Amino acid sequence: MMIPEAIKSRCNELRKEIEQHNYRYYVLDDPSVTDVNYDQLMDELIALEAQYPALITPESPTQRVGAKPLAEFPEVNHIVPMLSLANAFDEDEMKAFDKRIRDKLEVNTIEYVAETKLDGLAVNLLYEEGKLTRGATRGDGATGEDVTLNVRTIKSIPLHMTGNYPAQMEVRGEVFISNTGFIALNKMQEQSGGKLFVNPRNAAAGSLRQLDPKITAKRPLQFFAHGIGLIEGINPPARHADILEQLRQWGLPVSPETRTVNGVVGCFVYYHEIGKRRAQLPYEIDGVVFKVNDIQQQKILGFVSRAPRWAIAYKYPPAEVSTRVLGIEVQVGRTGALTPVARLEPVFVGGVTVTNATLHNEEEIKRKDIRVGDTVIIRRAGDVIPEVVSIIKDKRPRNSRIFHMPDKCPVCSSDIEQIEGETIIRCSAGLFCPAQQIQSIIHFASRLAMDIEGLGDKLVEQLVATGLVNNVADLYKLTQEKLAGLERMGDKSAANVIHALEKSKQTTLKRFLYALGIREVGEATARNLANYFGTLEAVMNATVDDLEKVPDVGPVVAQHIASFFLETHNRNVVKELLKSRVQWPAVEKSELQPLAGKTFVITGKLDNMTRDETKERLQSLGAKVSGSVSKKTDYVIAGSEPGSKIEKAAKLGIEILDEKAFLDLIRES
Ligand code: IVH
Repeated sequence: MMIPEAIKSRCNELRKEIEQHNYRYYVLDDPSVTDVNYDQLMDELIALEAQYPALITPESPTQRVGAKPLAEFPEVNHIVPMLSLANAFDEDEMKAFDKRIRDKLEVNTIEYVAETKLDGLAVNLLYEEGKLTRGATRGDGATGEDVTLNVRTIKSIPLHMTGNYPAQMEVRGEVFISNTGFIALNKMQEQSGGKLFVNPRNAAAGSLRQLDPKITAKRPLQFFAHGIGLIEGINPPARHADILEQLRQWGLPVSPETRTVNGVVGCFVYYHEIGKRRAQLPYEIDGVVFKVNDIQQQKILGFVSRAPRWAIAYKYPPAEVSTRVLGIEVQVGRTGALTPVARLEPVFVGGVTVTNATLHNEEEIKRKDIRVGDTVIIRRAGDVIPEVVSIIKDKRPRNSRIFHMPDKCPVCSSDIEQIEGETIIRCSAGLFCPAQQIQSIIHFASRLAMDIEGLGDKLVEQLVATGLVNNVADLYKLTQEKLAGLERMGDKSAANVIHALEKSKQTTLKRFLYALGIREVGEATARNLANYFGTLEAVMNATVDDLEKVPDVGPVVAQHIASFFLETHNRNVVKELLKSRVQWPAVEKSELQPLAGKTFVITGKLDNMTRDETKERLQSLGAKVSGSVSKKTDYVIAGSEPGSKIEKAAKLGIEILDEKAFLDLIRES
């Protein structure tokens, strides 16, 4: 169908105008039209696009929602890794940070950019030719989840940059929910019978990690940019403050609390000023962030492990309140560890109602002299489990009771064991202890493991208590009839659980390895194992020596893994799981680690990545990184001001990659 020119240009005009209003409203916080006016423009555009569907482009403001729910989030590699921040908790730590920097740079004073530290989720937005092409969560810093469709529903994030934007760039920032947004969302959840969120951070995380973008679109998510990753096709400004200003000009929202300050004294002033206004801010912050303003200075300072030396988060003390210890109970965890937990008179602190606090171990209880009946100060920081800071001795009642750890497992009465040099005591019964059984099954079903939806803690407890399930392999022997026979379980729910179990059988090797719950094998280690060995058989048959060759696996973890697979019980459970057709795509090792077997040497400075990041990235793709060029070298990556290595490489006829070629190579990988 021919589209009249007048319609085309009206369409463009409407889009520009709507984006301009969005910008005024979300970025400048200075609305230029009434809601009614805005809706009229939107309605007109929707009508035109309905009449001429060929006019629709992904960047049209009408296209923020519309996508279908996803089955899962694909993984994405950040082009430039996403870092984290070192923390300072007091003035001395801040002074030490500032001194380290001044010493290294040999200057008397530093100009910092001061920002608030929002308690949200870090995301990475990729803009190509000005268009928002991808949004991803931080994940482990190298790999995150592709949440593009959800990010597109956040109205303050422009689908198209304005002005003179770069060919390609990554914008880093925080997705969060304001305090009022949080209250409104929970009210909505309550009315619709949905689950309530414990705090704004969890609400933001739950909303961004929604498989159905239509749901995300209804959540009051906001965004503030706080930095950039890759940038190509333009020379970025030489100071961080100007980069932020530039981001504003390109249409991205930046926190209005951002300023430049001078020296550590300037940092303290900002910290106290924001601290005083913290409770009045429309969103939760857990600290402030200081970054060296001068990018050249940042480059000289570089990084330590995953955090830049040129930035720090200065945290506010966590919220503290007092309450009473009603009792002390002992919990048995997945690995048998016995942890004393204080049952508390419910109190509201840091945005949630707290009813218990971890006491870690008996020594800690003795050190703090905590007794049942005591009035205690508890603290809750971020998402961590609340802790008892101290007791108020004056308020100790006459009948307070001293607590002792049991000498038998409180769940199965088996003997307790303590490994020399460790404070943790454990139940010795392993998976014969119902508590450990339950916890290991809960772990197996959890989201990052086999992701069995609907198999919650309560149901697992019921399954173990009724004897229907003794180990994780028994889960796949459940039938709808058996499940429906349980108390409080309807036919529909039983069918859902069976369906979720069936679905979970299609998994990945790394999830499977993580799900087994081997001691000290978290998600990252499971991934490294999967990538390194490629098959389950290889992991199961690996010796301690083999295992230690895997990135991040030390002697202790290697020993745990080897012992786990030596145990007949564990081997049988694995065998049965496989018999139930738990399976994963048989990926070639070379596919998992596309650079396996290749040796790289890095020389000179790269613009977008530090040497450590480059090395980490290469290793995660399976490559070896060596310090010197030899005949065994496959590639030399040369940044600016390369050393003599490049001459040697040329002589040996080794392929030399400049930064762009290198980035292309890892992107293809
Ligand atoms: S910069 C180069 N700036 O804090 C360092 N992070 O602890 C990268 N965060 O993952 C982070 N506000 O999610 C930076 N103004 C701010 C921030 C901020 C909150 C979060 C971010 C990051 C985490 C690091």
